[in-house]
Amino acid sequence: MKKIRVGLIGFGTVGTGVVKNILSNGELIAQRTGIRLELARVADIDLKRERDVKLDASLLTTDACKIVHDQSVDIVVELIGGLSPAREYILTALRNGKHVVTANKAVLSKHGLEIFETAREHNVEVLYEASVGGCIPIIKSLRESLTPNNILSIDGIVNGTSNYILTRMQQDELSFSAALEEAKRKGYAEADPSFDVNGTDSAQKLAILASLAANSWIDVDEIYVEGITHITQKDIAYAAELGYSVKLLAIAKFGADWVQARVHPALVPGDHPLADVWGVFNAIYVVGDYAGEMMFYGAGAGQKPTASAVVADIVDIGRNIKSAARKRVSSLPEVAMAKRLVPMEEIETRYYLRFTVIDRPGVLAKISAILGENNISISAVTQRERHAESAVPIMALTHSAKEASIRAALSKIDSLDVVKDKSVMIRIEGGE
Ligand code: HSE
Repeated sequence: MKKIRVGLIGFGTVGTGVVKNILSNGELIAQRTGIRLELARVADIDLKRERDVKLDASLLTTDACKIVHDQSVDIVVELIGGLSPAREYILTALRNGKHVVTANKAVLSKHGLEIFETAREHNVEVLYEASVGGCIPIIKSLRESLTPNNILSIDGIVNGTSNYILTRMQQDELSFSAALEEAKRKGYAEADPSFDVNGTDSAQKLAILASLAANSWIDVDEIYVEGITHITQKDIAYAAELGYSVKLLAIAKFGADWVQARVHPALVPGDHPLADVWGVFNAIYVVGDYAGEMMFYGAGAGQKPTASAVVADIVDIGRNIKSAARKRVSSLPEVAMAKRLVPMEEIETRYYLRFTVIDRPGVLAKISAILGENNISISAVTQRERHAESAVPIMALTHSAKEASIRAALSKIDSLDVVKDKSVMIRIEGGE
């Protein structure tokens, strides 16, 4: 039996799950792989917190440096999240010849190049399955199973908290803030939940996925990001009546020398597989030129699913150590490609628009004239009858149009005196 010594930095929700998994399923792992995982040390700044797992006190430390410099540790597992000191711990561990497993999408999307280069120099591995999509094996699939494919597109629901909120708003008519509070209580949200709802978390995950798929480094700071904080119950209900679900999507499309990468809410047609992803579940819909359409689905957050992905990476490295394999799968492409990130104004997609207007003859004609002047073709339009309110909503769906044209048209429409509120625009994905 090959013993693999694991040093864990971060004994929080996921760290506790990793410890529990190694203690409860270590025998199963040993039977399957011939590898016995041993917890060498566990570091956390707060050792007093109640945890539902007991560890020998001699294994615990508040000093993570003791782990990254421990000669007996084979694999350092970084689960503290954030940029610093996570980056420093990872780099030091790699320089000390240790393999690293991390769930840290923030540090990888920002400092991935430096981390992977350092791993390459020191002939060690960095695995990071848990950084995207919880337990879903999407990174392994992109790095290994889909190697012979040009990836044409990725559409992902990669933030469980946002999906949970949108689900509760659509299915149970909860307010945004009540749904967010629930997600926090259930432990899905980030330490700073604004990262979940403003799209940052999704953008970090998209940068990782898109970089893998593109053979090119996609800078997280250049990804267009729009969150769900402005999405109202009203629009979710109108979208549902029109046959769509509203989802926060991480979208990447790939050409020979270009990449589109964007995060924003989108109307997804009811018959698209992503429309049926509810609650904290994540799903990544990938199209490869040979594999065709695939959907990867599973729990995107939570202690056990995330711990499962972390331990799977530990076992993967353990297998390499056992068979004396090194860098079997490159962290960075052997030949990287320079690709142009397409500016948001140039993208073309369909749009859901909602105008708040005075119900008076000629209003719809004025709006459709402006859309027409901007080369935007309407595919469906519906108006609510006026009751007590003085203004009424008009909802329009468009055929494919340029983002720049939509922006220009909306700015002109919003300046009309019959338009009483800022118009709402939500992109439509997964259709025409
Ligand atoms: N806060 C994240 C989410 C956790 O809601 O998806 C997993 O990255």
